[in-house]
Amino acid sequence: MSEIVIDNVGKVFGEGGGRPFLAIDGVDLRVEDREVISVVGPSGCGKTTLMRMVAGLEHPTSGEVRVGGKRVTGPGPDRAVVFQQFALFPWKTVRENITFGMRSRGATKAERDAAVAHYLTLMKMEGTEDKYPHQLSGGMQQRVAIARSYATDPGVLLMDEPFGALDAQTRTIMQEELVRLTNDNPRTVMFITHSVEEAVYLADRVVVMARNPGRIREIIDVATTRKAEKWSEEPIDDVMEMPSFTHLRGQVWRLLREQMGSDI
Ligand SMILES: Nc1ncnc2c1ncn2[C@@H]1O[C@H](COP(=O)(O)OP(=O)(O)O)[C@@H](O)[C@H]1O
Ligand SMILES: [Mg+2]
Repeated sequence: MSEIVIDNVGKVFGEGGGRPFLAIDGVDLRVEDREVISVVGPSGCGKTTLMRMVAGLEHPTSGEVRVGGKRVTGPGPDRAVVFQQFALFPWKTVRENITFGMRSRGATKAERDAAVAHYLTLMKMEGTEDKYPHQLSGGMQQRVAIARSYATDPGVLLMDEPFGALDAQTRTIMQEELVRLTNDNPRTVMFITHSVEEAVYLADRVVVMARNPGRIREIIDVATTRKAEKWSEEPIDDVMEMPSFTHLRGQVWRLLREQMGSDI
């Protein structure tokens, strides 16, 4: 079981020196095992900070985060993270980067080769398996980072604006791949995005945050509509024109717009 429980979590920065800043205040959120949630909110509302606490890269000042019933005290192989700023191993090839997590969980060579072939074809990066990150463009590096997180197949996938740097076409491919992946092999996903469309398209629930201090403004259920309207059987462009989709998108937009001075 890989549910994420964010239990009355607060985060204050600059407690040691400087003026304390309350970045997150009393956030309660339970992401069910195999549920996909997206998180939207104005910049500075604490989305990244919240995810870093789930990843174990940042510690809550109050409250606690539990993943699979265990209190998070640091990073772990049960959680894969994709940041906006991609982080590949510079000394490893594309193939080694994609299969890094698969190796640690004991995947066979045949499985690893199949994953590399699958993702490089999907991402239109055939022939790059032996290249090093510095030989790739930023967008290609980001695709490799995403492929690594998908291939690792962890219980929990944490993604912080992972598609932001991609061109529109690759972005669509990666969005559809994430939906396919979570359909075929459900896992718990927390996905931060600036795009309301992406948030609604990908998630079972959309968490809308507010800032000063960072907190949850509202949570919108999408899963019921997605299932009823069979979104996963349609191409993304068609889904985005369905009235059920535009209705939910409008709901999220209104909540965001309500927040004075938001520059999302
Ligand atoms: N390490 C840090 N030290 C001090 N302040 C920070 C730190 N990290 C984030 N903050 C502040 O916390 C707030 C939330 O930041 P962040 O989580 O990055 O927001 P978001 O991802 O929603 O844009 C911002 O005001 C940011 O400046
Ligand atoms: Mg952020």
